[in-house]
Amino acid sequence: MQPIDSVLDVRRILAAEPLQVLFERPSLPSFELPSQLNEIYGGSFGLPSQCVFANFVASLDGLVALPGDAESGQIISGHSQADRFVMGLLRSCADAVLIGAGTFRKSPGHAWCAERIYPPAAALFSEAREALGLREAPQLVLISGSGELDVSQPAAQTAWIITTPRGEGVLRGKLPETARLSVFDTERIAPADVLAKLRREGYNRVLTEGGPILFAALVRERLLDQLFLTSSPALFGRFSHDERKGLSEGADLNGVRLDLLSARRHGSHLFLRYQMAR
Ligand SMILES: NC(=O)c1ccc[n+]([C@@H]2O[C@H](COP(=O)([O-])OP(=O)(O)OC[C@H]3O[C@@H](n4cnc5c(N)ncnc54)[C@H](OP(=O)(O)O)[C@@H]3O)[C@@H](O)[C@H]2O)c1
Repeated sequence: MQPIDSVLDVRRILAAEPLQVLFERPSLPSFELPSQLNEIYGGSFGLPSQCVFANFVASLDGLVALPGDAESGQIISGHSQADRFVMGLLRSCADAVLIGAGTFRKSPGHAWCAERIYPPAAALFSEAREALGLREAPQLVLISGSGELDVSQPAAQTAWIITTPRGEGVLRGKLPETARLSVFDTERIAPADVLAKLRREGYNRVLTEGGPILFAALVRERLLDQLFLTSSPALFGRFSHDERKGLSEGADLNGVRLDLLSARRHGSHLFLRYQMAR
């Protein structure tokens, strides 16, 4: 763990500039977080006691995933330290992080915890989790239909993998003892059933970091409560039938509406927080 004065590093890395609040709805929930986190975030932060919230970074032309082996988020964000800070803040308040197998495959070596994404604030994130009564790290929950996962990855060691009978056939006997496997007796796992299972086990604030297929399914089934979207000042372009993906993929979302809860700025990046309209 890093010493608490790592907040100095945080300020240095964020060019001594906290996120600037451009707009914020009154009466948003507010946690008792370390004051330095509030300072860097540009005000207090909180979440409802039970919620599913998503975090993505998208280019100005709406891309979140690029072809190739590299992890898209970093490239799309332009390695924004402020984006990494916000990801860390969101992870530090989550009981669980839910991802699809596509995201897992594109992030070898990654760990879905706050300190990993933004090490300078590790001590502050850890203090935040303690203040919220959360365990040391959020539970990684990984959905895979095929079971085609590299289970030697560090993140797989303690992951909770939710899969189909087909996936079970591939994974059974290969998983580390510390991982957990749940099998849903269907080829198309209903995200609502996954969330219900998580809630039954006390995972009330679930952060989803995608990817676009899982995100679209959550939105289509009206299971998502909030979206934290970083708008990165970059354009990538598209070709027909390329492997680039927008924020939502594989579902007709029919113009579902969102309400803006807050907007922040760091440099030319915008940090937008939306509530799904009911
Ligand atoms: N810019 C950002 O902020 C951001 C965030 C996250 C991800 N990404 C990028 O997004 C890309 C991955 O996209 P993706 O659309 O493939 O991602 P994904 O949603 O993470 O993964 C899709 C896969 O997850 C499994 N899955 C999801 N929902 C399922 C369900 N209901 N039932 C059974 N299986 C289910 C399936 O796995 P199987 O294939 O095993 O059946 C499916 O092929 C990567 O390039 C990643 O870097 C970007």
